Parts: sequence; structure tokens; C-alpha cells
Amino acid sequence: MNYKILINKENPYNKGDFSNCGLVKYKNEFNEEFLIEKKCLQAYLKLKEDLALNNINITLDSCYRSLEEQEDLINNYLKSYGEEYTKHYVAEKGYSEHHSALAIDIALIVNNEKVGELNKLEEYLPVFERIIPKLKEYGFILRYPKGKEEITSYYYEPWHYRYVGKSTAKIIMDNNLTLEEYDKLYNRSGILLVNKPKGITSRDVVNKVGILFDTKKVGHNGTLDPLAEGLLVVTINKATKINELLTSEDKEYIASVKVGIETDTLDLEGKVIRESSSKITKEMLSDLFANFPKEYMQEIPLYSAVKIKGRKLYEYARSNKEVDLPKRLVKIKELELLDYSSDSFSFRILVSKGTYIRSIIKDMGEYLNITCTMSNLIRTKQGMFSLKDANNIEDIKKLPKLISIEEALNIKKIDLSKEDYNRVINGAYISNKYNVNDLGLLTYNNKVLAIYKRNGDNLVCYKMLK
Ligand code: DAL
Ligand code: ZN
Repeated sequence: MNYKILINKENPYNKGDFSNCGLVKYKNEFNEEFLIEKKCLQAYLKLKEDLALNNINITLDSCYRSLEEQEDLINNYLKSYGEEYTKHYVAEKGYSEHHSALAIDIALIVNNEKVGELNKLEEYLPVFERIIPKLKEYGFILRYPKGKEEITSYYYEPWHYRYVGKSTAKIIMDNNLTLEEYDKLYNRSGILLVNKPKGITSRDVVNKVGILFDTKKVGHNGTLDPLAEGLLVVTINKATKINELLTSEDKEYIASVKVGIETDTLDLEGKVIRESSSKITKEMLSDLFANFPKEYMQEIPLYSAVKIKGRKLYEYARSNKEVDLPKRLVKIKELELLDYSSDSFSFRILVSKGTYIRSIIKDMGEYLNITCTMSNLIRTKQGMFSLKDANNIEDIKKLPKLISIEEALNIKKIDLSKEDYNRVINGAYISNKYNVNDLGLLTYNNKVLAIYKRNGDNLVCYKMLK
């Protein structure tokens, strides 16, 4: 259930968006019955309890409204208060948040009487202003704040609260945003390039991005070990669906090698299993960089997350169980020596998907008949993305611009006909009158809808991106 969906003058209430919304009945202190969304009710009751401890007594004054009820409300307001007032306080039929059962209007209880939202507002404004700072703790926001009337289209309503969940409420209330502003800043999909520092996991980066962009839908492709640094391609919201297309790209690294030791993990994190006084010479490196195979079957390192018979290889290593290491074809597309001394060297390498640089270095050691281990690794490129365009971890806080799905994929873009659009939104196949060879990025009115794959004379759904 997405509690953050925006309903306002431009976006009508859409039942489909709230299909998992569980409505329950609730009777207030004055025996009035309301339908209200379950979570919203729980949050309301906690808010009410908290306020009571502070001698503020509230009651529910309005929650779910059907389309007809909103229409009646509009007509009543028109009669009682006139057009101007109605326009600025009551949403048009179909455009009210109350249709979702996630918006509540509260009234105060003073001397056992209900003080409704309209009368005595001025008098009780200080009381509402004591309530408002508490809202976020329970997952509510003040939906129509003072000073934001141009954005929300409605006047200040200190009694109307919208349930959005705690993390979102905190962001909105702490930053003095409206739901419209939040929607623009946070509800975005796309690709974020991050410069992962050493010492944290790729998962740590994903978690951080998830918190900052207020979403659970965050992925990364091409894990960088904690010791490694550099370009991590992070996908946010809808873009998580194209992870596999981004992972399959070539990657470029700058790797450093320490000569004279070999470790069990093939990098400096591991236990030293072999030591030698090997030294490196210019001739050895000239030979290595000229003749190292461009393509070969590489043994996957034992300390890796690759699965064999349902278990990860490093789990075998930890429990000292024997396992035959699988092999994988690797392709080295570019290889260049950057620097060297008698016991170290560094190089730039461009490799195909799934290549372990640690293993390349071990294999280089075998080629030269010396022991060596990886001492540093920086990813500088992945497909079309470059480290120089990546955001530092500190800068993610500023919620930088994302690379769109369209920009990130090298896939033929297709503008659909109206007829095909109607088929695609239902996931149906369409005929390949667009001459797509393999994959096509389907758009309609400049909005990305799906990736379709060629199947004979037709295109079939590969990924829905709506
Ligand atoms: N009072 C708000 C704007 C509504 O009618 O939904
Ligand atoms: Zn309201």
C-alpha cells in the first residue's frame, strides 16, 4: 500500500491506487460513525491519546467520503458560505483526499462539546498549533499548511491531516513541504551514480539512498566489495526493474597489486597463505601485458557469493567444506599497465560481466610464477556510466538529478500508436511494425511504459515500467 500517492487538483482519486486499503468502521465520542483506513485509525487513536495527556481533547469529524458525499458537501458549502469560500476549502468531486480514507478532519472537544472546524477557528488556533508539531510522530502531515496556498490550491486547514506513514511524514514536516513538493523531490525513478568509499558495503549505499529518497525500491548492480571503491550504479523506484539490463554491461577498473604474498580471499582482507620474495621486473610486466590471454575460463574465487548447490561459495569456505570452484568465461577487452615498482604494480582493465579482478590478479601471478594479491580496486566505468559523473556519498543528501531509464538504456525508443498503447498498458503483445530487432523501449506521450522483446513478428512484454 502506497500511502504517499498524491491526490490534488490535477490528480483525481484513483481507486486502483488504494486497492489494498482496508476500511474499518469507527464511532466517535458523539456516536457519529465513520469509515477510515485501518492504519490511519491506529495512528489517529495514538495521536488522540498523546494529546489527551496534554489536555487537548480531539474527536474525529470527517474521514472517508464517497463521491456523492463530497458532492453533497460542496452543495451545502455553496449554500452556507458561497462560492469563494467553497472553492478554497472543499475539493471538487473526485479530487478529495477524503475519498481515500487516509485524510481526517479533527474537531476539538471543549466542555464536552464538539468545536467544529469552521466556527471558533480563530479562537482555537493556538490549540491546533500545539497539535501540528505532534503529527509526524504518528505518520500524519498537515496537508494544507499556511503560506503554501498557491501550491496546494486550498486555504490553511489546521484540522485536516493526511496519513502518509512515519518516514514520509517526518521528511515533509521537518522540511516544511507540501505533498506536492514532496512528490516532485522524492517520487522519482532513475539511476543514481554513486562513488562508493572504501570500508562500506554496496548494501550500505543502497540503504542510505533508500532512506534519503524515502523508498524501499532501491537496487544496485555489480556489487563492489567493502575494500573496493568507485562507481556503483544504483537504481531507484521503477528503474530497479532494469537492473539486469544494466548489470550485463562491461566494467572498467583500476587495480593495484602487491607482489610477494597470496591470501585466501585474494585481497588484503584475507589470511596470508603463501609468501615469497618474488620481485617484479619491467621485462616480466612487458611480457604479461602483451601476452596475458584475452579470453579464458576463470575460476570463481572461493570467497564470493556465487551459489553452488544452493549455498554460497564463501559459506563452504567458512565451514571448511571442500567444493569444486566453478569456471566462467571472461573476456579482457582492454588492459594497460599504469605503474610499477619492484613489489607492486597497477593497471587499468576493461572486462566482461562477472569477471573477478582478484582472480585475474591471481592468474597473472600464476602466469609470472610469483605470488600476488589485490591491494586496491577502483571501478571507473560500467557500460556507459563513468566514475567521474558519480555523486559522492555526502552529496546524495541533496537528492541529485537522476539519470532517466530512457537515457540509461541503449534500446530503440518507440512512440506507440493509441491502439497499441491500449494493448501495452494491459501487457498484451503488439505486432512488430516498428522494426525492433531485439528490445524496444515503448513510450506514449513521452512517458516510458514498458520494455518489449521481439518474438517473431510480434513484440511481447519484457518489463512493465508504468
Ligand atoms: N477540504 C479538502 C480540501 C477536501 O475537501 O478534500
Ligand atoms: Zn478535510
